[in-house]
Order: sequence, then structure tokens, then C-alpha cells
Amino acid sequence: MNLILLGPPGAGKGTQSQMLKERLGVPQISTGDILRQARKNRTPLGVEAESFMTAGKLVPDEVVIGIIEERLHGADCKNGCILDGFPRTVAQAEALKGLLTRSKKRIDAVVNFSVDDGELVNRLTGRRVCPKCGAAYHTALAKPEKSGVCDRCGSDLIQRDDDKEETIRKRLSVYKKETQPLIDYYRREGTLKEIEGLGEPGEIFKRLSKALGLNAS
Ligand code: AP5
Repeated sequence: MNLILLGPPGAGKGTQSQMLKERLGVPQISTGDILRQARKNRTPLGVEAESFMTAGKLVPDEVVIGIIEERLHGADCKNGCILDGFPRTVAQAEALKGLLTRSKKRIDAVVNFSVDDGELVNRLTGRRVCPKCGAAYHTALAKPEKSGVCDRCGSDLIQRDDDKEETIRKRLSVYKKETQPLIDYYRREGTLKEIEGLGEPGEIFKRLSKALGLNAS
């Protein structure tokens, strides 16, 4: 099953992808995670992406399309994948369609999570992540057992540099201009499923599973 998870920054794409990949047994492909890893490793890709990401802007289409093209060739994608944070522009959506058609594959469903801006800002300003294993927490909504320390691997948690309020507002405005048009794009393609993204993550996963015709347990 090839799925796209759409939604504004903080809508829960990463959180739901993690649950979905366990359920479906296919990889989660997060362009944000790939770019952050490249920045951490100071690769040419990471150096190129850095200034866009810290400013809350999108990395150029040709760069992310290249990443996805290479990643979709991975053997682990043969039964499908969950695309988290890609596509983000109509040009990326068109490129993805071409890549999949050439491999005789298709997108089975596109899920859009709706969450209001106030809640998004609250989720993102409070988000803390583990730089080692990638686990995500929230200072009030999803606290680790010991404050500031990852439950999974014991590393010190950090705040993403694009999770400062000013950058979050910029990311939201970029989302509205560049990514929101994809909702209509996939509605026209007939693959769009809309999910209310407010509520407990487990509750949202039930809605998502129902929309995809999966058994949530
Ligand atoms: P990316 O990493 O993709 O960031 P994003 O889309 O802004 O998404 P987030 O990770 O912030 O949010 P999410 O929806 O995954 O929410 P999450 O589950 O983490 O991209 C970062 C940057 O990389 C971009 O700005 C751009 O520069 C670049 N980039 C990436 N892809 C690109 C592309 N295709 N083209 C060009 N540039 C690209 O949850 C957020 C928080 O909320 C967490 O703390 C979580 O615990 C909490 N939470 C989750 N669900 C709930 C819930 N139901 N209730 C309460 N809290 C919740």
C-alpha cells in the first residue's frame, strides 16, 4: 500500500506514520527526517538544505524529488511505503505520479489531517525530540518519564531549531501557499481521505485505520 500523509506542520503526520508503519509493515519515508539526518552528517545535501529549513521555507523541489526517487528504489519499498511530508508542492506531486507510473505503482490513498493553527503552534512549541533515536515528546501533552530525557534511549531531548514560534508561523504560511493546494489536487484524483486531527493520537489512529479500511488493533 502506498500512502501519502498530508497536513500542516504539527498535524501529527510523523506520529501517525510511526503507528501505521507497525500496522502495515511498510517503511515511513519522511523527507524532513532525511534532510535533518543529512544536516547532522554535514553532507552536501544537508548543507544545501540547512538555510531553507532554519528559515521555515521549503527545500527546492528538484532536491527533494531526487531524494524520493532514490529512496523509492529501496528494496524495503517493494510492498509500498508511507510518505510523510512529501509531496509538498504540485510540482512534487506531479513528479511522484511520474515516478510511480514508470514503476507500475500508484498511490492508494492520501490522508489529510486538519488541525487549527492555535493547536498546531501549541504542539510544535512544546515538541521535544531525541536527537539519537528520533522519538518525539511534548512538554505537556506527551511527557517523557524523566523530564528532558528520552524514555527509549536515555539521550537528552532537544527542541528542533524550526520549532521556535516565529519559524512555526512561517512554516504555516508556506504550508497554506504551497502545500494546501494539494488537497484539491488529490480530491480531483479521487484518492483523498479527510481526517479530523484533534484528539488523542490513539483516537486519531482509529479514525485513520477506519478511513483506510484497516483493523486498528
Ligand atoms: P518536516 O519534518 O516534514 O516538518 P513538518 O511537515 O513541518 O511536520 P512536523 O514534523 O513538524 O509535524 P508532524 O505533522 O509530523 O507532527 P508530529 O507527529 O511530529 O519538515 C521540516 C522541514 O524540512 C520543512 O520546513 C522544509 O524545510 C523541509 N522539507 C521536508 N519535506 C520537504 C519537502 N517535501 N519539500 C521541501 N522541503 C521539505 O507531531 C508534532 C507534535 O505534536 C509532537 O510533539 C507530538 O507529540 C504532538 N502530537 C502529535 N499528535 C498529537 C495529538 N493527536 N494530540 C496532541 N499532540 C500531538
